[in-house]
Amino acid sequence: MSRITVIGTGYVGLVSGACLADFGNQVTCVDVDVSKIDRLKKGEIPIFEPGLDEVVTRTAKGGRLTFTKDVGAAIRENEVLFIAVGTPPAEDGSADLRHVEEAARSIGRVLNGYKVVVDKSTVPVGTGRKVHQWILQELSVRGAAHSFDVVSNPEFLREGSAVQDFTHPDRIVIGSDSAQARAVMKEVYRSLFLNETPYIETGLETAEMIKYASNAFLAVKITFINEVANLCEKVGANVQDVARALGRDGRIGPKFLHPGPGYGGSCFPKDTRAMARTGRDFGEPLSVIETTIGANERQKARMVQKIEEGMGGVSGKTIAILGLTFKPNTDDMREAPSVTICEGLVAKGARLRVWDPAGMKEAEWRLKAIRASICFAADEYDAIQGADALAILTEWNQFRNLDLEKAKALLKAPLLFDLRNIYRRSEVQEKGFMYFGVGQ
Ligand SMILES: NC(=O)c1ccc[n+]([C@@H]2O[C@H](COP(=O)([O-])OP(=O)(O)OC[C@H]3O[C@@H](n4cnc5c(N)ncnc54)[C@H](O)[C@@H]3O)[C@@H](O)[C@H]2O)c1
Repeated sequence: MSRITVIGTGYVGLVSGACLADFGNQVTCVDVDVSKIDRLKKGEIPIFEPGLDEVVTRTAKGGRLTFTKDVGAAIRENEVLFIAVGTPPAEDGSADLRHVEEAARSIGRVLNGYKVVVDKSTVPVGTGRKVHQWILQELSVRGAAHSFDVVSNPEFLREGSAVQDFTHPDRIVIGSDSAQARAVMKEVYRSLFLNETPYIETGLETAEMIKYASNAFLAVKITFINEVANLCEKVGANVQDVARALGRDGRIGPKFLHPGPGYGGSCFPKDTRAMARTGRDFGEPLSVIETTIGANERQKARMVQKIEEGMGGVSGKTIAILGLTFKPNTDDMREAPSVTICEGLVAKGARLRVWDPAGMKEAEWRLKAIRASICFAADEYDAIQGADALAILTEWNQFRNLDLEKAKALLKAPLLFDLRNIYRRSEVQEKGFMYFGVGQ
């Protein structure tokens, strides 16, 4: 059993803390956002993540998971300190390390014995060494000398299936130069280690690079199929069949070959930009990633154009938008393509009736720039009511089986823009719709 503190109780920190507690560890989750900690103490889960409430409730009731606002006490009382704070994009595309630095300095200010500091936030190569320096600086201000090690342990969970991903990872990556820290980390992940989850030990920089390379590769794969989809539209090919056949090649694999409105979310956009920035900083341009970033922006713009062309102009028309979150099963709208697409449509004079099963609260402020042109609907059919067209932007399961007869009766014109390709053209056309997918 390890005694762990998780600094930052967001999507990654809360899932990691709860699951590490479920592995039998004693975990304290701490956050500077006091309202978040107050809610967690009352048993409320501040994010929408399937299955998370059960793990949090179970481990909190069992006394293995606690929440606090007292960063200093949480650092002093435990030996393994995970940093899971946000690393949002800075203006120049690099990762903003402000929160990581603050967490590291908080550790240095109160360090009281040997600790392992684990970077779980996604941070550019070289940040582990900086964390070491920041802690040393604070120790020297205090005139204190305590030993500690910094480990990079990047997180690969996906929002929407975070609990399953954390408890059944494809691999665990531990980057460290210290044998003592590596031994501590094996104890932290003991239950997964015993289950023979691939456990990859590397140096600090290599572990940091693995995370960025993984996310960048997936972003490239998505963008690749999006560009193939765009060409399919021009030459009369069907990208669904292309992707199915492509994915059967064992060297390629079927995942991340789903064409759509472009990747979004809290990771791919910022991590590709940060990695490209690192490449430029070191004089090694990552041209594939740079191209991917541009192509992804064009893909979102292309969706606006697709709707505009399909409707013969959107000015003065109302469009029902189903799905706002960047993917299903999350309430997260960070860099969701929906934001760019909704803003693009409104800029061309459209009015929107929007609905999302989990994202409505977040949408109210993420879409505030175009608030005056939006009606926040009560459900999917309320959104469709009286609209001139229907656009599906996120593939929530409940949108896969819409009552198309009812939808058609509610719409002014039977136009369906299926930006996630969740319907078959033939079945939708049979119901009397004009169908617009991606790459078909
Ligand atoms: N969200 C994902 O799917 C995902 C997946 C893998 C990796 N990551 C990476 O994990 C990191 C965290 O991402 P997230 O989505 O959980 O972010 P988040 O914004 O949901 O959570 C970060 C939390 O850290 C807290 N915080 C900030 N500074 C603090 C400090 N000094 N002390 C204590 N708490 C502090 C914030 O209040 C917030 O609650 C990022 O680097 C991200 O790139 C995210």
